[in-house]
Amino acid sequence: MYAVVTGAAGFIGSHLAEQLVARGDSVLGIDCFTNYYDVAAKRANVRRVSASARFELAESDLRTCDLVSLFSGADAIFHQAGQPGVRSSWSDGFRDYVDHNVLATQRVLEAALAAGVGRVVYASSSSVYGNALAYPVSEADLPRPESPYGVTKLAAEHLCSLYAANYGLSTVSLRYFTVYGPRQRPDMAFRRLVESALTGQPFPLYGTGHQVRDFTYVDDVVGANLLALAPEIPAGSVMNVAGGTHAEMLQVIDLVADLVGRPVSLDRHPRQAGDVDRTEASVKRATALLGWQPEVPLSEGLSTMVEWVRSQS
Ligand SMILES: NC(=O)c1ccc[n+]([C@@H]2O[C@H](COP(=O)([O-])OP(=O)(O)OC[C@H]3O[C@@H](n4cnc5c(N)ncnc54)[C@H](O)[C@@H]3O)[C@@H](O)[C@H]2O)c1
Repeated sequence: MYAVVTGAAGFIGSHLAEQLVARGDSVLGIDCFTNYYDVAAKRANVRRVSASARFELAESDLRTCDLVSLFSGADAIFHQAGQPGVRSSWSDGFRDYVDHNVLATQRVLEAALAAGVGRVVYASSSSVYGNALAYPVSEADLPRPESPYGVTKLAAEHLCSLYAANYGLSTVSLRYFTVYGPRQRPDMAFRRLVESALTGQPFPLYGTGHQVRDFTYVDDVVGANLLALAPEIPAGSVMNVAGGTHAEMLQVIDLVADLVGRPVSLDRHPRQAGDVDRTEASVKRATALLGWQPEVPLSEGLSTMVEWVRSQS
């Protein structure tokens, strides 16, 4: 198979590109190395996969480049590129979210259609749900994002479904729930927590610590993407991809302290606008359509992540 991975230098995209190459596929990675976090970290993310003759990297911006040429001959596109993060999506930051998440996705869909690509898998997000009325959330629940970031991820997801319904483009949207593992973005809570635990620096905790998240190990997310290639999945499908271990932040802090072997000191801050109290998903649809289930328990995934962060320092 010849696949395109957008956002290939990012946290999830780099893992996906590696796994595709490892199983024998040829991959074109596209990334414009936005400066949302250290560009050197993104370069490091793609270093290993770049050694393969089956991987090529196009340093191109989805908002402006000639996507039809880049997509020509591709069997599938894994659209992982985006502007992530809830907190900076307010105020003037919103423009970047509209650009990188909505406008770029619309260009990806138009070009995929023009190039005759067989499947587009879109990296959607649990943030489309906001604070739900009941848990676990299922895809039948009305999405009510709590942040501007969630609004842009939902808008792009709707675009995927529109291109499927109106033009028959075979899109599949996967709603990821808090993904963690080696190379996790430096702005994400697990990464900051593990770094604090290892260095002894206080961990900035926003809110009470009783907020619950459904944590998903990155290899499980990659596995769902690979299974989303199955041709029988209906075009326009949307499904949750969640790790099944929902835990309070305070429980995770204790778990990390145990793994590292020292207590974590907390630097408490008020809850941030856009943060939800709970995420917890049903993955019945992903199991039915993809035959997918999460395999990596939180304790195991966190242990691997701690080792990776340790290896970086
Ligand atoms: N990490 C999570 O927990 C999580 C949860 C839900 C959804 N997602 C979604 O998964 C995707 C990947 O997230 P991540 O955590 O790996 O983020 P990331 O920031 O590490 O990776 C995204 C990559 O996309 C690239 N990019 C952004 N805009 C681009 C553009 N216009 N053209 C080309 N490249 C561009 C960036 O340079 C970056 O390398 C994002 O779409 C995000 O919204 C992530």
